[in-house]
Amino acid sequence: LIIAEAALETVPKNISRHASVTRHATRKGKAGTEILLDRSYHHKAMLMLDNADRRGRPDLVHFALLEAVSTPLYRMGLLRIYVHSIADKVIFLHEKVRLPKSYFRFEGLMEELIKEGQIRSDSDLLMEIKNMRFADLLSEIKPSKVIGLSRRGIKSDATKIATMAKEDAVLVVGGFPRGHFSARVAAGMHQIYSISDYSLEAHVVIARVLYECEKLVK
Ligand SMILES: C[S@@+](CC[C@H](N)C(=O)[O-])C[C@H]1O[C@@H](n2cnc3c(N)ncnc32)[C@H](O)[C@@H]1O
Repeated sequence: LIIAEAALETVPKNISRHASVTRHATRKGKAGTEILLDRSYHHKAMLMLDNADRRGRPDLVHFALLEAVSTPLYRMGLLRIYVHSIADKVIFLHEKVRLPKSYFRFEGLMEELIKEGQIRSDSDLLMEIKNMRFADLLSEIKPSKVIGLSRRGIKSDATKIATMAKEDAVLVVGGFPRGHFSARVAAGMHQIYSISDYSLEAHVVIARVLYECEKLVK
């Protein structure tokens, strides 16, 4: 599973001295560029950013990841999870990682990951982050097929998608609040499918498709 173009990044340098950022960063005892960009705090500063409506929603990524890591499929070691961010960084979740359910703790963990490059527990590597474009990630994991999910895709359903994904395919769900995959990311997909006429939250799409995948391995 790839959560692509995810709205999870630290505050970009060009807005790190904006009052809404410095106030928030000072309260957290961190530098402006060390905290996660968050629309609920940095709305005014974000007006200066390109693509602002697709950024600053790390809470959506938290929800989507909690959904994926809580599935039996992941706990059985049958699912690999990657977060490709809008800033072209990729988070690799290693096997059977548990994530904090509290958003406050998740935010701290992501800030630490971006700063240190990895998270360890004793000798085990739990997560790491690398500078990588979506295309670079695909070259590294070499899936048999890249299946995108979007309301704008070809009409299908979760069961058919799970069947198509069976042999080492990658499922790509957007980690952004609105809009669609960029042309750059969509170009890496073999096909894009829709599972509903509604625009669904990423975590709902993840839950539905992974559940169907799970039924195939039982
Ligand atoms: C909040 S949505 C992004 C909004 C976008 N307007 C949309 O409907 O796809 C987050 C992600 O959920 C997935 N998604 C949302 N609705 C979907 C649908 N009807 N079928 C398949 N995937 C969907 C897509 O991967 C999308 O990028």
